[in-house]
Amino acid sequence: MTIRLGGIIVGLGLTAVLLLWSLLPGVLNFALPEKPDYYAFQEENIAPEEGFSFEGPVGTWDVAQLQRGYQVYKEVCAACHSLKYVAFRNLEELAYTEAEVRAEAAAWTVPGINPETGETTTRPGLPTDQFPSPYQNDVAARAANNNAIPPDLSLMTKARKDGTNYVYSLMMGYVDPDPADQALSPEFETPEGLYFNEHFYNINIAMAPQLTPDRVSYSDGTEASVENMAADIAAFLTWTAEPSLVERKQTGWFVIGFLLFATFLAFLSYKQIWAGMKPKKK
Ligand code: HEC
Repeated sequence: MTIRLGGIIVGLGLTAVLLLWSLLPGVLNFALPEKPDYYAFQEENIAPEEGFSFEGPVGTWDVAQLQRGYQVYKEVCAACHSLKYVAFRNLEELAYTEAEVRAEAAAWTVPGINPETGETTTRPGLPTDQFPSPYQNDVAARAANNNAIPPDLSLMTKARKDGTNYVYSLMMGYVDPDPADQALSPEFETPEGLYFNEHFYNINIAMAPQLTPDRVSYSDGTEASVENMAADIAAFLTWTAEPSLVERKQTGWFVIGFLLFATFLAFLSYKQIWAGMKPKKK
C-alpha cells in the first residue's frame, strides 16, 4: 500500500516538474523586456517562387543552377568572401571535367611559398587547393569593410536558420525601410557606411548591396535578374555546405526499401516457423 502511494507521489512530482518546465519559456517571455520597435523592420525569410530543386524528399541538384551560382560566387562574392572548405577539385561534382577544373584552378591565385627562399609568395591554384581568401588577414579584411569581416561562406547555409532561404533573402533584402515601421521609430536611421537590409539580424549590414540586374552574364540564356542570381548563389552555397545532401536522401530511400524487404522476409519466416503450430479446432 505504502509503495503504491510512494509511486503516485513520485509520479505526480515528475509530472509537476515537466509541466513547469514546459511553461518556462512562456514565463521567460513575459519576464524579458520587449524588443524595441525598430525590430519591426526585420522580416521573415522569403523563398524563390518555384522553390529549390533539392528541397523535399526526392529533390536533386539542378547542376546548371549550381554552375551559375559558382559563376556568381567567382565574379561577385569572391572579391570579399573566402570558401575555405571547398577545393577546386570539388567542382568536378558540378559536371566540370578534370581539364576544366585544372584550368579553373590555375585562373585563381593562391598563397604559396618560394621553395628557394622560404618567403611567402603567390602561385596559380592547383585542383587540390582550396578557394583562397581575398585578404591577407582579418585586419586587412576589417580595414576594407568598415570594420566588419566578410565571413567564410563554405558553411553559411548551415550556420544560419533556414540557411538557403536566408542567403536568398539577404541578397533580396536591400530595400527601403517600410514607412509604417519608420513611423514607429522615427529616430531610426542607417549609420554611415552600413546598409539597410530587412533580413539581416542587425538590420544594418556592413555589406553593400551586391546583386544588381545583369551583374553577371549567364552563358546558358538564364536572365541575370536579381532573383535568379540570388537563388543561384543560395543553391551553390547549399551545395558547398552539404555536398552530400541529395545522396543522403537517396540513401534514405534505399534504407527504407531494404527495411521493408527485411520485414517481408521476417514475416515469411514467421509463417514458416509457426506453420505446424495451428491451434487445434474444437
Ligand atoms: C565588398 C565586399 C563584399 C562582397 C563583394 C560580398 N560581401 Fe557578403 N559580406 C561582406 C561583409 C563586410 C559582411 C559582414 C557584414 C556584417 O557583419 O555587417 C558580409 C556578410 C555576408 C553574409 C553573412 C550575413 C550574416 O548573417 O552574418 C553573407 C551570407 C554574405 N555576405 C553573402 C554574400 C554573397 C552571396 C555575396 C555575393 C553575391 C557577397 N556576400 C558579396 C562583404 C561583401
